[in-house]
Amino acid sequence: MIRRSVITGTGSALPKRVVTNQELAKQVDTSDEWIVERSGIRQRYIAGDDETTSSLATDAARAALAAAGLEGHQIGLIVLATATPDQTFPASATIVQDALGANGGIAFDVAAVCSGFLYALGVADSMLRTGMAERALVIGAETMSRIVDWNDRATCVLFGDGAGAVVLEAREVAEDGPGLLVTHLHADGAHNQLLYVDGGPSSTQTVGHIRMKGREVFRHAVTNLADVLSNVLADQGFAPSDVDWVVPHQANQRIIDATAKKLDLPAERVVLTVDRHANTSAASVPLALDTAVRDGRIKPGNLVVLEAMGGGFTWGASLVRM
Ligand code: UT7
Repeated sequence: MIRRSVITGTGSALPKRVVTNQELAKQVDTSDEWIVERSGIRQRYIAGDDETTSSLATDAARAALAAAGLEGHQIGLIVLATATPDQTFPASATIVQDALGANGGIAFDVAAVCSGFLYALGVADSMLRTGMAERALVIGAETMSRIVDWNDRATCVLFGDGAGAVVLEAREVAEDGPGLLVTHLHADGAHNQLLYVDGGPSSTQTVGHIRMKGREVFRHAVTNLADVLSNVLADQGFAPSDVDWVVPHQANQRIIDATAKKLDLPAERVVLTVDRHANTSAASVPLALDTAVRDGRIKPGNLVVLEAMGGGFTWGASLVRM
């Protein structure tokens, strides 16, 4: 038997307001055709004044807790991945903790932008396996609409808001049983200027806006994601053909397709939500995971690989037996 972090519940939350490409094209010099052809995005959810990163995170966490049959007070660790916290400090995880009645345990945010959920999962898994907590909530939540430059058509059409969460429970399981098998994480700070926000408390004392050299990010994304995917599989002695589902970061359908093709992974085994959710940064992987769990595609026992790449650059992948 081996101590592993097992995903016992998933949940997600989206803002009330949907904005289609057609609606966006009324305010920005763009078109539905351009956005769909270049990214696969057809619509995105945009948070209203009454919706914040922590409120979306709390809703997603409540859904994950309900799926796991747990209540907030049973959670000893909350790791929230976000690039758009409610406040510069304290961590939005502490706002979620209080809303859930999980007060007294560990709660902190992780900043790794679009790879944030993978980083949060890796950190939470390590903490559970070393006994720092028995049950954790790992959440990715973003309100990217608050930091996009609505005058920059090259970026503002790509992002959306939302949250996704998983409950992780430490369990003693058989070698071929469920749980997180391995997570690989990477960062390369040399590429800061290809994808960043041009503000921050210590530099400009402003929040700033997203800046991206899309074409260059695209090229790095396919190479890094294909590498990290094949490495997590090889680490555990699996081949791409053993994978039941790939849950990729939903930045661009062309990146997802190109990465899957490089590894010979059939498109039918890749979960796609970018058309509906757009790029929700740290929320995108758990949102897609929850979608595929709830619609019955991802089943107990399935071998699932999660992957993401984003600003930093940061990138990573996790291999999970559901
Ligand atoms: O989540 C973090 C990771 N981020 C990513 O993975 C994003 C990676 N990059 C991408 O997804 C793609 O590079 C984009 C979707 C951002 C852009 O696609 P692209 O095929 O690389 O287009 P481009 O940036 O090279 O722009 C092509 C043309 C340009 O016009 P010219 O210079 O060829 O005349 C742009 O000005 O498209 C123009 N353009 C637009 N046209 C209509 C840029 N944005 C728009 C727009 N609507 N919204």
